[in-house]
Amino acid sequence: MTKRGRFITLEGGEGVGKSTNVAFVEAWLKARGVEVELTREPGGTPRAEAIRELLLDPTQAEPLDSDAELLLMFAARAQHLSQKIVPALERGAWVVCDRFTDATFAYQGGGRGIASSRIAQLEQFVQKGLTPDLTLLLDMSPAAAKTRLEGRFRAQQTQRDRFEQEHESFFNAVRQAYLDRAIAAPERFTIINAEQSLDGVQAALASELEERLTQWR
Ligand code: TMP
Repeated sequence: MTKRGRFITLEGGEGVGKSTNVAFVEAWLKARGVEVELTREPGGTPRAEAIRELLLDPTQAEPLDSDAELLLMFAARAQHLSQKIVPALERGAWVVCDRFTDATFAYQGGGRGIASSRIAQLEQFVQKGLTPDLTLLLDMSPAAAKTRLEGRFRAQQTQRDRFEQEHESFFNAVRQAYLDRAIAAPERFTIINAEQSLDGVQAALASELEERLTQWR
């Protein structure tokens, strides 16, 4: 029987360097012979990506109700789990996912103020006990992240999505909710200081992955 793969998630607020580092994690594991399925949330499959579009659409004409936002996150997740994540884990691949349910507790919970108990009910309903084996939390103060993001928006002239338009108080609450979850589950989470140099961040990621690889193989 094939050994079930491992499920690794990367989390953090906006502008902490997730895209660069998720690619680093993928490359690091592949270089050690691990089959990796790289994916993201919300999204990861064509239908789940269509839900992502709805969620990120910055159009102001009709506000998105926060319960509808929460349910759409989990609708996308149900699709992603059944079509991509679970089949990959079952064939023995390691899934590296850019955000997962900790983002829901941080953004819809911390940011929007939805009670964690309600989010936990949906988590149980959709995931039926499936949780990541390892969560790498890239932590940075929202003020530092904002400086980075503003440079990016200027350089690329891209429009801010619905979440990127939120204020600093929203991102402070998101950060705190992430940290609270990391402190409550230290065996699953590793907090990485994302304010240090990229080399420093990647050395910390590599050291954590090395330890887990030895433990899991
Ligand atoms: P990103 O992938 O570019 O970071 O954009 C996804 C956005 O969606 C980001 O602002 C965080 C947000 N998000 C939530 O609010 N809840 C969730 O459960 C997930 C997965 C993402």
